[in-house]
Formats: sequence, C-alpha cells, structure tokens
Amino acid sequence: MYYKENPKFPEGFMWGASSAAWQVEGGVAEGGRTPAMIDLNSKKKKPYADNSIAADHYHRYKEDVALMAECGFSSYRFSLSWSRIIPYSDGKVNPEGIEFYNNLIDELVKNNITPIVTLYHYDLPVWVYEELGGWRSRKTIDAFEHYCKVCFENFGDRVKYWLSINEQNMQICYGHWLGTSEGCTDWFREQWDINHIMNICHAKAVINCHEMVEGGKIGPVPGYVPIYPNTCDPADQIAAMNAEEFTEKIWNDTYVYGDYSGFVRKYWKDNDIHPDIRPEDLELMKKAKIDFIAVNCYRSNTAVASKPDSESREYGLNKYGIKGQMVWPNVPGAYALCTNPYVEYTDWDWEIDPSAIRFSLRYLWDHYRLPMMITENGFGANETKDEDGQVHDTARIDFLRDQIYNVGLAIEDGCEVIAYNPWSFTDLLSTGNGIKKRYGIVYIDTTDDELINCKDVSELSMTRIRKDSFYWYSKLIKSNGKDWGKDMR
Ligand code: BG6
Repeated sequence: MYYKENPKFPEGFMWGASSAAWQVEGGVAEGGRTPAMIDLNSKKKKPYADNSIAADHYHRYKEDVALMAECGFSSYRFSLSWSRIIPYSDGKVNPEGIEFYNNLIDELVKNNITPIVTLYHYDLPVWVYEELGGWRSRKTIDAFEHYCKVCFENFGDRVKYWLSINEQNMQICYGHWLGTSEGCTDWFREQWDINHIMNICHAKAVINCHEMVEGGKIGPVPGYVPIYPNTCDPADQIAAMNAEEFTEKIWNDTYVYGDYSGFVRKYWKDNDIHPDIRPEDLELMKKAKIDFIAVNCYRSNTAVASKPDSESREYGLNKYGIKGQMVWPNVPGAYALCTNPYVEYTDWDWEIDPSAIRFSLRYLWDHYRLPMMITENGFGANETKDEDGQVHDTARIDFLRDQIYNVGLAIEDGCEVIAYNPWSFTDLLSTGNGIKKRYGIVYIDTTDDELINCKDVSELSMTRIRKDSFYWYSKLIKSNGKDWGKDMR
C-alpha cells in the first residue's frame, strides 16, 4: 500500500468497537431471558458454537466498559436481546432485562462512551417463531414494533443512535447459514416475503424512533461487500453490477427510497415470485426516512460473467468447514464470484482488502448522500497467547491500520463518516466458528472446548488480556487518528 500524508479525522469523530448480544453476553438462561432461535442454530452448526457463555459479558460488563474507557473509546455499538426484554408472547416487559441494559448504558454514559444500539442482530426469540410463525408471519410485525417501542421508551433518554436490523441483506442472501430460512419449504420464493416483513419492521422502527426518542437518529446496517469486475470485459462489469444488486443494492435502495427497484421487480416477474406487498406497506416504507447508513464492511468480492446454462451454486465449505472461497456462488446468467489474485486472504479465506472500505463509503455516499458510520470491520484469525502470556497480534494491527487509513481517505474524498466501530472489542463467538475465529483487541482466555465442556462459567478463567492491537488502537484513537505508531510504513 502507498502511504501519503495521514488523512485527517473530523473533531468529534466517534471511535469504539462493536458486538452483538448473542455473540458476547452469555447468561442465556439468566435474568429471565428465554431462548432465541440463534441459540439453537449456532449449536446445530459445525464447528460447534455454543453461546451459553460466549464472552460472559453479561456478568463482566463493568470490567469490559472499564477497559473500553482505558482504551479511549468514545462509542460502543452493541445489540439488545429481544428475548431478554420480552421473554414471552404475552408481551410483558422483563424488568431484569431492562435493568441489565440500563446498567450497561449507564456505565457507558458515565465513561463518556456514546451507546450505538442495534435492535435486532439475528436473535429471533423462540416464542416469536413458535407462536407467531417467525419472520414468515405478519404477526411478527406487531411483536417487533412493541419490542422496539419498549426499547425507545426505556433507553431513549440516553441512547440517541439506533440501528434497526443487522445485515438484513445477509440474512436473506445466506438464510440457511444465519437461520432465517428455518421452517421455510420454498426458500427461493419465501425469502422475499420474509425480506418484505423485515422491511416493514425496519420502517416501523424508524418511524417510532423519530416519534419517541428526542433527538433520536436511526439507520439500517447493511453488510457491505463491494464487488469488483474480474476483468475489463464489459460482460464482467455487468456481472459485477448484477452481483452488487443481488447482494446489496436491492436493500439499500429500499431503505433510502422506500420502494423496490425496477431491477428486483423484474427478477421477481421473471422467476414467478410474488411477495405479498400491500399499498399501505409501501406508504409506510416511504414515510420511514433514515438518518444515516451504518456500514459493516470486512472484505470485497470479485465477479465474472456467468452463462445462463451454467450450474447454480452457493458458497462451499473451506478448510475450516465454513463458507469460503473453495466454491464460489454462481447465479446463472447474472454473475459468478471468483478469486481475486490481487489481495491476500485470511485464515478463513476472506479477502484482506483495505480499499474495500474506501470503495464502500464512496459508493454509498455517491448513491445516497447520507452520513455513514462504520459499525463492523475486522480481522478474524486463529490466535493464542505467546510464552510471555501476551497476545502479539501484529497482523490485526496491520489490518486495522490499513483499513482505518482508508476510512480517512474516504473522508478526504468527501464522504461524511461519523464513527468507526470495528468488530470486535473482546473476542466473541463468530457466526459459525465459536471463539476460535478471534476478532477482539482484547483476548478472552478460553477455548471452544472449555466453553462447551465446562459445567458452569465459574470453572473458567475468562480473563481479559489486552492484545498488542489494544495498545496500538488506543494511541490512535486518543490522538483522533494522528498517532499511527512508529511503523506506519
Ligand atoms: C457480520 C455479523 O456479518 O460479520 C457478525 O454482523 C459476525 O454477527 C461478523 O460475527 C463476522 O462474521 P463471522 O462469520 O466471522 O462471525
């Protein structure tokens, strides 16, 4: 990478990190919480990821917030667990759930850390699935609206930045992986009904936030993976645009314009797909004006033209048994993803591509002209303690340095970016690889085997060890992006 002068970050830029309730909290059967579908889904996967304990943040949130403050955080993005707040279908609010989040939010505010709160991050309560029909049912809209209103009412005095649904696009594109497709018999068609119901839920969250939270701002959280054309063959360029539409743009256009694009409507027509979209839904979606776009960006993808008669396929499994680059998706006639020879890959075959984040911010800014915040970006790796008991995660420092530098370049390119919250603060559970795939700048001293085999969390150390990246990030953020460390390049 060529480094010119350090890019400048605006005054008041928020620096922090990010997490999600089911991946960090643990305490799944405590404080009145009832199970979520993701608890069951994560246990079904291989490698096994049991979120009963996770990073034990439920019991150690004070210690975690103290570490965030020590690091110099000015923001922290986390999610609320729906089934901790509303554990049953009677809709009654669980005071212990409210108390837990009140304590966490108070602790953050006391330490001058701005809470950025996601309402929904993959953890549908089991009662919503079993008693209402889950995301396939319109009954879920009212239940979700009630839950959101409870959150705005209880936390809106201190929480001013809200995020509606985490990576709705990924939940639809990779429904089998993230559990969204549970109970569907015709996912090819049903995914669009589910998507529409999520859009209505998102819209209601936006409208209620504006009505109930004084000074409240709210936005969606697309999982953004920019797509590059494999070559300058015009057919590859169109393939990249198609891939962009099918994995990102369909969602972002809908959030911003409150209606479905011509591209997706034609796709539905061609494929005999008829989602139940009612005029009053569209009215509601149009009314829901988002304040910003929260961007999750880890990597890029590359697309090549695909012949209409080629074989359709989804991601295959890589050497760790998770979705990777061994078999790339092919959507016949639209696009196929392929390997990019210009980038390195992580232990989990994700592209290490710092330009992706600059590309994403530029692309979203050019299309929508809305402020943006980074709510996820990070490096998932195998890591262990060294002989000195410390974790020398040089590769993560390199990753973060290159990514943050590119966020700075995007700001200098003219994009309005207000926060950077990488994934994650402490190590936590990945969506399908337990704690083995580590993302934190703080190491949690445990392993998947320990998490799975212990009888109780009290048997485990769960000690928090500041990684080298913690110290590096701390210096950078305390100087508002000026102190890049001795070896900037
Ligand atoms: C994001 C999700 O897509 O990617 C997180 O919002 C997830 O929940 C993160 O953990 C990293 O993905 P993975 O599969 O490595 O956990």
